Amino acid sequence: MTRALRRKPAPRGRLAVLVTAGPTREHVDPVRYLSNESSGRMGFAIAEAAAAAGHDVTLIAGPVGLPTPRGVRRIDVTSAREMLSAARRVWRRSDALFMAAAVADWRPARRLAGKWRAKDGGARRTRLDLVRNPDVLERLTGARRHPGRRVVAFALETGQAERRARSKLARKGADYILLNSPAALGERASSALLLGADGSRRVLTRRSKRAIARELLRLLPKPRR
Ligand code: CTP
Repeated sequence: MTRALRRKPAPRGRLAVLVTAGPTREHVDPVRYLSNESSGRMGFAIAEAAAAAGHDVTLIAGPVGLPTPRGVRRIDVTSAREMLSAARRVWRRSDALFMAAAVADWRPARRLAGKWRAKDGGARRTRLDLVRNPDVLERLTGARRHPGRRVVAFALETGQAERRARSKLARKGADYILLNSPAALGERASSALLLGADGSRRVLTRRSKRAIARELLRLLPKPRR
């Protein structure tokens, strides 16, 4: 039986929408971690808009201090690997994925059970061994597009932005990628570029995250009857 047939339809013709949001934390020891500046606002805005439009929404959130939007099922995770395992379970029965989380690419090779005590021996320099985290999006899609389902990726680039975003779009099996500039970090309104695997290119100028979220919802496939 194919994966498409195994998926259980969302009730009453609504779409099952999976959204990921926020950063991940990769712990060095019980009190220290590697992370990034993601606020989670974009993903939360998408989840809120999708639930308001009547969809069945699951939001997998990294550590952020944002309230759960009304009508949204929320799963809190900490690390990239936790996000992958939660997302795998939900993606099986989802029609669409908005992968807005800023997943940490690296994690410490070892997570110490007690506090990291490198300086106690008088060291002036130390090193932290890192290993690659799984690419959550690539693992979910299997790096290929899924007709009938919709996958939207997100990127924030500093140089050769459009070329890099297009290559991520193809590599990760997404249908669209929303490209932000670093100026968007933590801002309420920003400009973005929406690139499609079909070659499409749309500039979204000075929009609030809420307005961008509404725009992204237009990419959803038609609900099954
Ligand atoms: N992503 C993911 N898992 C990762 C890294 C990224 O699922 N380990 C997803 C993000 O959620 C986003 C898309 O991939 O939707 C692009 O994220 P980005 O960090 O720009 O991609 P990277 O492949 O990590 O590229 P870079 O080397 O520029 O960081």
